[in-house]
Amino acid sequence: MSDIEQISLPNPTESLKVCIERNPKLLQSIKESPSRFRVLTGDRTTGALHVGHYFGSLKNRVLLQNWGVDVFVLLADYQAITDRNVTSGISNSVAQILLDYLAIGIDPAKSTIFCHSMIPALNQLMLPFLSVISMSELQKNPTVKDEIAMAGAQAVSGLMMTYPVHQAADILFCRGNVVPGGKDQLPHIELTRVIARRMNNLYFEGAPYFPETELLLSNAPLLLGLDGRKMGKSLNNAIFLGMSEDETAHLIKGAKTDSNRTISYDPDNRPEVSNLLLLCSLCLGVVPEQIAEEVGDGGAGTLKRKLTEALNEYFREIRTRRREIAEDMGYVFSVLREGNQKANAIADETLAAVRKGMRMVYY
Ligand code: TRP
Repeated sequence: MSDIEQISLPNPTESLKVCIERNPKLLQSIKESPSRFRVLTGDRTTGALHVGHYFGSLKNRVLLQNWGVDVFVLLADYQAITDRNVTSGISNSVAQILLDYLAIGIDPAKSTIFCHSMIPALNQLMLPFLSVISMSELQKNPTVKDEIAMAGAQAVSGLMMTYPVHQAADILFCRGNVVPGGKDQLPHIELTRVIARRMNNLYFEGAPYFPETELLLSNAPLLLGLDGRKMGKSLNNAIFLGMSEDETAHLIKGAKTDSNRTISYDPDNRPEVSNLLLLCSLCLGVVPEQIAEEVGDGGAGTLKRKLTEALNEYFREIRTRRREIAEDMGYVFSVLREGNQKANAIADETLAAVRKGMRMVYY
């Protein structure tokens, strides 16, 4: 193990600085030569997707896909059991998220949609990858630490501690060189890069096999839920893509605001009102300050009506398409089946190359 740590994880502050500096250039090169890039992104299968996911990442995936980038989208079903041992909701989540993907415009003719549990060779890559990472490196991961803190005092599973290595397998099985995501994903990407370099050094001397993946930082503002907490799949505070217009109206009606009647955009002092303005601004394509001005003394009621209308209008087409697609679940699952077939072919090839590099081909 002392050998592998010769290539070390960078200091987190430094690595964020480098990532932020590099971001505009990375985006530019992707735009200019999309065929040089393979993007891997995904979602945990812990429930349907909401408007926070849409503005934070889903919209960008469609953009990248339509620029001509080869996009792989993962239903991370094994990541749904990092912090719980309940699997009863996973299969429904898979169906719901598939519908969300197809409704927002992820095109199976251009992008590959697949799931962890059906790609054996991807999962097997985790074994050699685990061997090149030390326990202390796993224990230092700030994103994992936060998740453990959030999950409370329960026992921490081995999968929780090692899922960033699994995530490296998600990315490297298809030699993805770009992962779009937020700052919280940076420790995982740094780990992925270190795994790639150590594997290349140990087993692919002179002919590096794995790329050094980069994080494409999303510039989307963080959306809160309608109660002012983080928008979460199971917090009862999220507007889901699959909701009806009435459900949306009802949820927004009950959103938390404050006692100041004059609406203003002030995220620090008025987080709930500002969040509604932000959501409205994302739907209407105008700055939140302007919406605040328009609502003015109309108060929270007026703002909520405006937001309901804007959201329902923005998502109308997506929701109609979602309902239409849901009428043929046979088609929906055929998309996953074909994506899995494609992912399996690539994963088998990668695993074969790794076993060859490791001199573990016996006959
Ligand atoms: N961690 C991501 C989430 O919580 C899902 C995910 C799994 C992922 N594997 C990935 C994201 C690989 C990017 C790259 O939603």
